[in-house]
Amino acid sequence: MDNQAFPTRPKSIKAAFLRAFGLALLVIMGVFATAIYMAEAKVRDRDLAERAPAVAALFAVKLGKDSALMHAVGHAMMGNAAIAQAFRQRNRQALEDQGRELFEILRTDHRITHLYFDLPDRVNLYRFHSPDRYGDKIDRATMLQAHSRSEPVNGLELGPLGTLTLRMVMPWRQGRQHLGYIEVGEEIEHLISEVSATLAVDLAVLVNKRYLAEPQWQQGQDMMNRQGDWSRFASHVVQAQTMTGLPATLDETVLARLLAGKTVKIKDQGRSLHAALAPLDDAAGHHIGELLLIRDISDLEATFNGYMAVVILLSLGVAAGVFGVFYVALERVDKDYQRQHELEHRLLRMNTEHQRILQLEKLSALGTMVGGIAHQLNNPLVGVVNMAELAAREADDPDRTRELLDEIQRAGRDCRSFVRRMLEFSKVSRFESRPTPIADLINDTVLMFRQTEARHLPVAVELPDPPPELLIDPILVRHALFNLLQNAAQATDGQAGITIRLVAGTDEDSGAPGWSLIVADQGRGIAPEALDKLFVPFFTTRSDGTGLGLPVVQQVALLHHGHVSARNRPQGGAEFALWLPR
Ligand SMILES: Nc1ncnc2c1ncn2[C@@H]1O[C@H](COP(=O)(O)OP(=O)(O)OP(=O)(O)O)[C@@H](O)[C@H]1O
Ligand SMILES: [Mg+2]
Repeated sequence: MDNQAFPTRPKSIKAAFLRAFGLALLVIMGVFATAIYMAEAKVRDRDLAERAPAVAALFAVKLGKDSALMHAVGHAMMGNAAIAQAFRQRNRQALEDQGRELFEILRTDHRITHLYFDLPDRVNLYRFHSPDRYGDKIDRATMLQAHSRSEPVNGLELGPLGTLTLRMVMPWRQGRQHLGYIEVGEEIEHLISEVSATLAVDLAVLVNKRYLAEPQWQQGQDMMNRQGDWSRFASHVVQAQTMTGLPATLDETVLARLLAGKTVKIKDQGRSLHAALAPLDDAAGHHIGELLLIRDISDLEATFNGYMAVVILLSLGVAAGVFGVFYVALERVDKDYQRQHELEHRLLRMNTEHQRILQLEKLSALGTMVGGIAHQLNNPLVGVVNMAELAAREADDPDRTRELLDEIQRAGRDCRSFVRRMLEFSKVSRFESRPTPIADLINDTVLMFRQTEARHLPVAVELPDPPPELLIDPILVRHALFNLLQNAAQATDGQAGITIRLVAGTDEDSGAPGWSLIVADQGRGIAPEALDKLFVPFFTTRSDGTGLGLPVVQQVALLHHGHVSARNRPQGGAEFALWLPR
């Protein structure tokens, strides 16, 4: 009992809850921010992915439009009688004289860079842009197709120097006569610039090295005064671009990812760029390279980051508010909890203390009882020993010896009667309750009492009408009532009567309903010094009393979950009340 383990001080509820709550908030906000970020990245990717086909389509439209212009140029040449005659006569000088002015207008106003007159066997007759080169056989895809299909053909052509040109080859017939071919061409840089301006993306043309040879390509770069870098990428060279230079961060790995069909985000001098590719095919249908799209998303990203910051700050504010409310509420809960814990702790300590006191009380009651028994038995036993000694000494006086033997017998009887009372007392612990008509029980007890009481004191009984049936152990209650009647008679000197009453009454402490069985007398009353010892076993003021009567009554009351009380009546005499719950 003494080494009872007290609960240790509990951990703070507030701290535990707020820690978990804060963590949950952080996780939610992290997930929220990540989700927004991923959604934004997805939208951006889709935007660029959709822009790539748009670039390719617009590029194709522009090629178509310029091809149409080239067709018109071709028809204009064929419709010009002087040029037609010069071509028929294969007169290079006449062609120069008739066509130069027209070519210059086309060059300056319409970016037409190439104008050829070729013979039916595809051998070049005259190049307006390079009059000194002629007599070579043209075997570019556009020419071959126009030759075999006998119709105008246009498409992109990659020259040996790396230049990418849009070409249109138109067979020239007059009646049944096949005069040859007119070929018109333009470099495509201006088309890339136009597409770039329309769709707000930077563009670059990447040509697959498979279709180029480095020396010629280098020659082309020198010819056009360009500083292209053949070794920048393993597989491709940059042939044209709308920005001043490709971002340094666009390296081999980035290109590999782009070629795998992905969009890639890169950083360049503090700017955020988003890149994707669109395929580039030539007139022969070869996949000769890629159109590289680069979109500057720095502003977009800055705006988004701004919104994100606002959203996160707002969420943080709301979270802090909720956190604060919880903090205050939990502070209170925590305090209550601590207080309650403190109380429990104190109660437990008090309980331990109480248990120890009960233990001490039990020991002291046992001591009192043993003392009482020893006292009750000692007096007659001392008498027995003394009288036996006397009898032995006066053995020759028979009358005296008989007298002494009588005394010894009486002392023995006293001992036996005491032991009988003790046995009666011990029997009181057996308890069997059953519905008992109380009127019968009282009448039987009074009858029994009259037989033992020599003075025949009058006993009045007052019961409620009709008298109730009580759930009690009849033997025990009769025994208790008998003891109370006996005490009342012993306290009465004259012929004053005794009253037994049964009244309904609630328990003062618990308020439980019950019955009070009251025995009142008009005797001497209880001595003031005896009042608080009445129920202590072996307490008696009578020379022949054992002091076990009232303890029996108390035991009976306790077995019925009731109690017994005693008081002196104002008009004289004492009153004992045995309260039994209903
Ligand atoms: N009706 C009463 N009026 C005055 N005093 C009483 C009354 N009943 C009991 N007492 C006092 O209480 C004491 C204890 O009573 P209790 O019945 O326990 O023992 P007892 O009557 O002395 O002995 P026993 O009942 O064992 O023969 C009595 O000695 C007496 O002093
Ligand atoms: Mg008694």
